[in-house]
Amino acid sequence: MKFLITAGPTREPIDPVRYLSNRSSGKMGFALASAAEQAGHEVVLISGPVALPTPEGVQRIDVTTAEEMFNAVHTALPGTDIAILAAAVADFRPATVAVQKIKKQGAPQATQATLSIDLVPTRDILASLGAMQPRPFLLAGFAAETENLAANAQKKLHGKNSDFIIANAVNLPSTGFDSDENEVTIFSHAREPLALPKASKQAISSAIVELLVAVRTGGHERV
Ligand code: PMT
Repeated sequence: MKFLITAGPTREPIDPVRYLSNRSSGKMGFALASAAEQAGHEVVLISGPVALPTPEGVQRIDVTTAEEMFNAVHTALPGTDIAILAAAVADFRPATVAVQKIKKQGAPQATQATLSIDLVPTRDILASLGAMQPRPFLLAGFAAETENLAANAQKKLHGKNSDFIIANAVNLPSTGFDSDENEVTIFSHAREPLALPKASKQAISSAIVELLVAVRTGGHERV
C-alpha cells in the first residue's frame, strides 16, 4: 500500500529573519513513516523543518510553509491508500511578509509601543482531503489538545470529514510535542474510541499502521 504522511511544524514568515511556528519536532510523523515502511509499505513523507534523519526506504519531501505543505500533499496524493496527517500545520500566517527586517524604530524606551501583525487563516489540508469526492483512500488526522480532548477530537472528526482522528494531549511534559513517547486515543465514526496507553512513538505508530492497514484491507465504507 502507499502511505502519505505529514510531519513536523510549518514556518510562516513574518520578515526575512522571523517566522511563526510551533514546538513540533517531527518525531511522531517520522515514527509513523518508519513503522509503515517496516511493515512493507511505500511511504511518502512530507515534512516541515525538522532535525531528524529520513527513515530508510522512505521518500521525503521537505516543505516550509502551510501553503507549501498543502500543495505537496495534493501533488503526492495520486495512488495513496492511507493518508496520515501528523504535521502541526499553522492555522494562521501573517497577511503580508515584510520585504526587509522589521525595525524596532524609535520605540526603545520602557514604554515601547506594541507591534501588531495581521494574521489570515491557512488552507486546511486535512479538511481539503476530507472534502474530496470520491475519496479512494483512508484518511487519518491528529488532534493536538490542551483541554476537552474527546469533545474537540470528535468535532475535528466530523468537521474535517476524516475517517480517524488520533488525539493527543499536548500540555503534558512526557507526551505530545518533542517527546519520545506518546499516549493517544483514536476516534472514528462507527467504532468505540480506542485508547493506546503511553508508549514509545515507534510502538504507537506500529499499532496505528496495523489498525489502518486492517481497516483499509477490509474495505469498510465508514469506519
Ligand atoms: O512532532 P512531535 O514533536 O513528535 O509532536 C507530535 C504532534 C503533537 C505534533 C502530533 O502528535 C500531532 O498532534 N499532530 C497534529 C498537530 C495539529 O496541528 O493538531 P490540530 O488539532 O491543530 O489539527 C488537526 C488536524 O488538522 C491535524 O491532522 C493537522 O495536521 C491538520 N491541519 C491543521 C491545520 C491546517 N491548516 N491544515 C491541516 O491539515
